[in-house]
Amino acid sequence: MDISSVLQGGYQHPLSRSWQAQRSLTKSMLMYPIFITDDPDACVEIPSLPGQCRWGVNRLEGFLGPLVKKGLKSVILFGPVISAVRKLRTLFPTLYIACDVCLCEYTSHGHCGVFRADGSIDTEPSAARIAEVALAYAQAGAHCVAPSDMMDGRIKAIKRALIDGGFGNQCTLMSYSAKFASALYGPFRDAAGSAPSFGDRKMLSVATHGEGLARRAIRGAISSCETSPAILDVIQDAKELAPDHPLACYQVSGEYAMVVAGARAGVYDLRTMAFETVESMIRAGCTLILTYFTPAFLDWLDE
Ligand code: PBG
Ligand code: ZN
Repeated sequence: MDISSVLQGGYQHPLSRSWQAQRSLTKSMLMYPIFITDDPDACVEIPSLPGQCRWGVNRLEGFLGPLVKKGLKSVILFGPVISAVRKLRTLFPTLYIACDVCLCEYTSHGHCGVFRADGSIDTEPSAARIAEVALAYAQAGAHCVAPSDMMDGRIKAIKRALIDGGFGNQCTLMSYSAKFASALYGPFRDAAGSAPSFGDRKMLSVATHGEGLARRAIRGAISSCETSPAILDVIQDAKELAPDHPLACYQVSGEYAMVVAGARAGVYDLRTMAFETVESMIRAGCTLILTYFTPAFLDWLDE
């Protein structure tokens, strides 16, 4: 046997195995996505997102308190979030609060922007409105605003609004910079009531085969990638294009539902598979992971 082909000596012990990882999952890398609903006392299960609920503001303390005790460091909020941000800032002073910024949860048609009479997206008023929303979240106390729409011009508009509003140095802008059109957003759209009532969202997301476009989008608006094993190549690209930026990956609703469903069908052990999915994102280069598995990871990382 050739000397260089002997690798097993380097990972035969659990500890030496752990040394082989350049980075591994820690609690501070996890950001937990949470859906807020307008009934303050509600806790409504989301059928397509097993184990996840829509939460009313009054239920947040009971729900998140134990998780914060276990080491939850950050959340990203969806839905009517303003009063939730205020509440969380007072309840949990150390918790980092991000807000997804998008119009699709508030428009009657479920699209992420404003339309012209001919049905095309009206980019400038859309970006302007998105920037107003982002500023409102910063004013409510969000540490981070995360525009998820891929609207041209929104990064500049949000930055300007934050700076002019006095929040330039107080609020992080984490853009969904390479968001692919994907079949994996289904459960989220149930949860947020944001499924488009006509057409689809392909005009705003990068087509699955558009890796060149994704690279251009990343250069324009650096910081996070959305989803799944389907785009690990894009995370690696993003790491190369923006090596000095933190890089996030969103393990989206459909991927979470898929991993849970596979485990329930006996295909694999849930915990093992959840770690595999997240470790591949870390290997590809991300430093922050948005995942519905966060509460489970907080337990698993303690074991
Ligand atoms: C809103 C938004 C979506 C997601 C994050 N922000 C849904 C979408 O674009 O349809 C996806 C998150 C998930 O599926 O868990 N634009
Ligand atoms: Zn949207």
